[in-house]
Amino acid sequence: MYRVAVLLALLCAICHSSTASTFTNGLLPNGDFEYGPKPSEMKGTLVTSKTAIPKWEITGYVEYIKSGHKQGDMLLIVPAGAFAVRLGNEASIKQKIKVAKGQFYSLTFSAARTCAQEERLNVSVSPNSEPNDWGMLPMQTMYSSNGWDSYAWGFLAEASEIEISVHNPGVEEDPACGPLIDSIALKLLSPPKRGNDNLLKNGNFEEGPYVLPKTSSGVLIPPKIEDDHSPLPGWMIESLKAVKYVDSDHFAVPVGKRAVELVGGKESALTQVVRTIIGKTYVLSFAVGDAKNACEGSLGLEAFAGNSTVKVAYKSTGKGGFTRAKLRFKATQARTRVMFFSTFYTMTSDHSGSLCGPVIDDVRLISERLTKVVNAIN
Ligand SMILES: *[C@@H]1O[C@H](CO)[C@@H](O)[C@H](O)[C@H]1NC(C)=O
Ligand SMILES: *[C@@H]1O[C@H](CO)[C@@H](O)[C@H](O)[C@H]1NC(C)=O
Repeated sequence: MYRVAVLLALLCAICHSSTASTFTNGLLPNGDFEYGPKPSEMKGTLVTSKTAIPKWEITGYVEYIKSGHKQGDMLLIVPAGAFAVRLGNEASIKQKIKVAKGQFYSLTFSAARTCAQEERLNVSVSPNSEPNDWGMLPMQTMYSSNGWDSYAWGFLAEASEIEISVHNPGVEEDPACGPLIDSIALKLLSPPKRGNDNLLKNGNFEEGPYVLPKTSSGVLIPPKIEDDHSPLPGWMIESLKAVKYVDSDHFAVPVGKRAVELVGGKESALTQVVRTIIGKTYVLSFAVGDAKNACEGSLGLEAFAGNSTVKVAYKSTGKGGFTRAKLRFKATQARTRVMFFSTFYTMTSDHSGSLCGPVIDDVRLISERLTKVVNAIN
């Protein structure tokens, strides 16, 4: 009896220590920068010591900014809490964190462009042996009205302790120019699985990056994301512009809790490649709607598969809602690329200049034989 108790206690200690020490989901420690440097470690807004910001290590020109701070005629606001950091010339912030080795993670953070025109951030993890374990995220296009956007980036954890780094590689005349950063969060992604009745992985987009609970601007998934490092498991973002990951807490979503808003017009394609049998007929079905974000008018969505395409027009009043569409096609290759994009660039009707577009959700691909069986059963 005693031995069993000891064993149980021991097992429990192991299970506790492993779950407690491995990061799965949420803001990184001091990820919203609410704990700041001591006054003695600052000169104005400039942080003067490498370890002054609790939990973080900094290099280069890093400023600690309080919401409401004035820069020239610009008032800097902060999306979560009262503080953020600004990465000036060649500045970076780093944090070490324990993760589950061999698993995929998605990093989410908020950033706002300030004075430089073409701001970019290099997000990376170490150790890494893969050449693409860093990502250069462009911030030149503003998608949301208040200037702050959230970005996601996916990576494979190659060790049980990794260092996450966000670096501004820019060199401006004014060293204080550079993006503001806030709310850095991490999420363990479960590997995408195919459902019984769907040849696509993660067709309902329920698995994806961490959505910051206090930000209502969605999460941008940057372009040119490779398949196996996608923060949106199963899917790739091809071409030039980002797509936006939206959640039902802040937006209208056709099915479940998550969906994708195609905000980049024809310049961003959401794709997935599936194995198909040449000559066989398949049916691609999906929901198209609006995110209840004042994106009004006729939203056009185009779907491609095999040699077939369909254009869907969805009349949006900007108040949420969706329609369903189908594309029937014959596979011409053993691997078929399924692709979606928005026909037009659209802006929200609130004069904020925010880009918006059709929302896509509940994407299913089944072979036609199966469609007939399913219809017969129904
Ligand atoms: C981004 O950062 C990583 C890690 O420091 C570095 O290896 C890579 O060269 C950087 N990329 C660019 C384009 O500067
Ligand atoms: C279908 O597409 C393939 C390549 O994507 C092309 O080689 C082929 O000629 C096309 N077939 C038809 C009938 O359009």
